[in-house]
Formats: sequence, C-alpha cells, structure tokens
Amino acid sequence: MKVLVINGPNLNMLGIREPEVYGSASYGDLCRSVREVCGREGMEVEIFQSNHEGALVDAIQGALGVFDGIVINPAAYTHTSVAILDALKAVNLPAVEVHLSDISAREDFRRVSYTGMACIKTVCGKGFAGYEEALMILKNHLTKR
Ligand code: DQA
Repeated sequence: MKVLVINGPNLNMLGIREPEVYGSASYGDLCRSVREVCGREGMEVEIFQSNHEGALVDAIQGALGVFDGIVINPAAYTHTSVAILDALKAVNLPAVEVHLSDISAREDFRRVSYTGMACIKTVCGKGFAGYEEALMILKNHLTKR
C-alpha cells in the first residue's frame, strides 16, 4: 500500500508559526511522526509539501497510477481552492483531509472546506495524532475494498 501525504502552504513553518495554535514541534518532527506510523503499519509513504497551489495540483495529478491513496492537509487552500478540489475529483483516489487545528472552532472563513468535499473523511483538531488517524482511516478503507 503506497500513500502520498500532501501538506500545503506554511506547514513548513511549523514550530515557528503561531505556536499557540499549531504547537512547537517542527515540520521535520511531523514528517518523522508520519514515517514512523507508516513504517509501523507497513505502508509505503511519500511526503510532499508546497506553498504553491499549482504544485499541489500537480502532485495530486501525479499520484494517479502511482499511489493507492492520499492524506492531505491543504492548509489555507482548504478554504479557497476549487482547483485542488477538482484535482482530487479528477484522480478519484481515496483521500482523507487532515488539519492540525480545529477549523470548525476558529474564524468563520475556516469553516468552509472545498477540498473536504472530495475526501472520504476529515480529521481536525488533533495535532500530529490527526495524521495518524487519517492514515489509519485510509488504510482501513483500502483494506476493505
Ligand atoms: C490548517 C488550518 C488552516 O485553516 C490553516 O490555513 C493552515 C493549517 C491546520 O492544519 O490546522 O495553514 O490546515
């Protein structure tokens, strides 16, 4: 089972950006934790991060025929990007959306998720543990097919 974990803009700034919202652990720490979970679960993983909407669209398109599923934190593009929503729909790979913070309990504009409309589930407000939950949801989904 091969999964692609995609992280959107400013997630490379974890540990520096708004630690009161996102915590003090770094993006490297997040990647290590994702790799650890995948290693334990026997899942092959590639992790991709970009601050650019088109690069995220390219990564989703490139996943077709290569990966079995996607875990995605589109970050701010969650709330704006029809292009990422369309890319997820186009490849039609099972995808789980994850957010470190609870987007339903913050500003109103974060309550809308375009990208979530193409995902089988959204996990939010659980920090790094949310990525583990999202990977497990994806694994269960892929195993049951
Ligand atoms: C985020 C939530 C988004 O609203 C925000 O723009 C982010 C991070 C999260 O992981 O909590 O950059 O996706």
